[in-house]
Amino acid sequence: MNRSIPVEKNKEYIIEINGLGCEGEGVGKIDNFTVFVPQAIVGEKIKVKIVKVKKNYAYGRVIEIIESSPHRIEPVCDIYNRCGGCNIQHLDYNFQLEIKKQRVIDCISRMGKLKDVVVHSTIGMKQPYRYRNKVQLPVGVNEKGETVIGFYAPRSHNIIDMKICYIQDKIADDVILIMKKWIKNNKIKPYDEIHHSGIIRHIMVRKAFKTGEVMVVIVTNGNSLPCKSDLVNLLKDNIEGICSIVQNINDKKTNVILGRQCKLLWGKDTITDYIGRFKFNISPLSFFQVNPVQTEILYNKVLEYAELTGEETVFDAYCGTGTISLFLSEKAKKVYGVEIIPEAIKNAVKNAEINGVVNTEFIVGKSEDEIPKLIKDGKKADVIVVDPPRKGCDEKLLNCIAGSLPKKIVYVSCDPSTLARDLGILNELGYKTIEIQPVDMFGNTAHVENVALLVCSNK
Ligand SMILES: C[S@@+](CC[C@H](N)C(=O)[O-])C[C@H]1O[C@@H](n2cnc3c(N)ncnc32)[C@H](O)[C@@H]1O
Repeated sequence: MNRSIPVEKNKEYIIEINGLGCEGEGVGKIDNFTVFVPQAIVGEKIKVKIVKVKKNYAYGRVIEIIESSPHRIEPVCDIYNRCGGCNIQHLDYNFQLEIKKQRVIDCISRMGKLKDVVVHSTIGMKQPYRYRNKVQLPVGVNEKGETVIGFYAPRSHNIIDMKICYIQDKIADDVILIMKKWIKNNKIKPYDEIHHSGIIRHIMVRKAFKTGEVMVVIVTNGNSLPCKSDLVNLLKDNIEGICSIVQNINDKKTNVILGRQCKLLWGKDTITDYIGRFKFNISPLSFFQVNPVQTEILYNKVLEYAELTGEETVFDAYCGTGTISLFLSEKAKKVYGVEIIPEAIKNAVKNAEINGVVNTEFIVGKSEDEIPKLIKDGKKADVIVVDPPRKGCDEKLLNCIAGSLPKKIVYVSCDPSTLARDLGILNELGYKTIEIQPVDMFGNTAHVENVALLVCSNK
């Protein structure tokens, strides 16, 4: 054993859990050395087996719960202990909401160094199961040579075979069953990522909750898709609501799930869903929020924070298929949406058209390049909304938007750490964070979405 590291791999220790990691794991100390323990809860005393030791921390596995938390519940899912899909299913739902709020508070004080920010209680779901409208699952083979479809185990690429996923719509379970049957009956080769061989890489299922329309996307390692008419017939005959079957080609040696090329095998190339009164056409490659019920709550919060009167110009950076832009358009004079994916912008333009919205304009490109161009062209935004991916905003964009002096910035974020970092930067640039509303879009996982309201502190 290394002298400076007080724990050894495969040995058992007793640990008290007094912190929470960003993946929802418990955190404790052994001789002042940090140990992360998935599925352990603050306040618990646990016997752990050390499974991984790094220079500054280790990972432990729960062997025995010596003192249990009152917030511990029996997970509904049989494979919860192995699957990497959910990570806090062992916590009662009210406590899940509480720890999500606490994580936001911790991030903004530690990373953002912000004071006097009101963090509201997390807005929870009525039912934290069966809420996701989209699933993307890898397809592979287990040690017995059987086809497996499911999420990867945590921190690995071992696929944990799944029959039921309680956070997905039930239709995803039905599609997985059919895909397994079709692969077995037709001896189709699942993808082997080590040798970059085989055919079927991923299955994506999307359901539009308001219309019931279903899209199935089969991601293949190249053009070939044998027995496709059999697959189309099986899906058509057995999947309620199916109206789009697409082959997506991804022949690259990469962890990115979808390739750029899509071939329509049957039906329509988009499905239609509604958020609020707005109708959206969603293509295989476009981003669309995975929890449409909570999305409506989130977007209404964006609208409330924006406080539009009908006179304002708004920039919506990272606009995806223009969902937030359309919500804002009802109360704004003009909305400019910027998004990097051309297909998403095509959808956004179409979405504005089918909703009869005439005061939006959508631009393809990086927000950090296109927003400065809009400003250089003399466009002045009263309110700027940003909704970046996990890594947060490019610093060039933050400098540019703060320099353009909007009355307000509304920051939508799916990652409290990068949100805190960016709010810290904006604070230095003269934009004070007034309040943050966490919204639970991803029940039973440690993720939390937030909307933050910032105002110019120099006025
Ligand atoms: C969290 S999503 C938000 C989408 C949209 N606001 C919504 O609510 O559906 C982030 C979006 O940013 C896009 N994106 C990523 N990097 C970008 C960049 N540098 N500039 C513009 N858009 C970007 C992604 O393609 C994705 O559509």
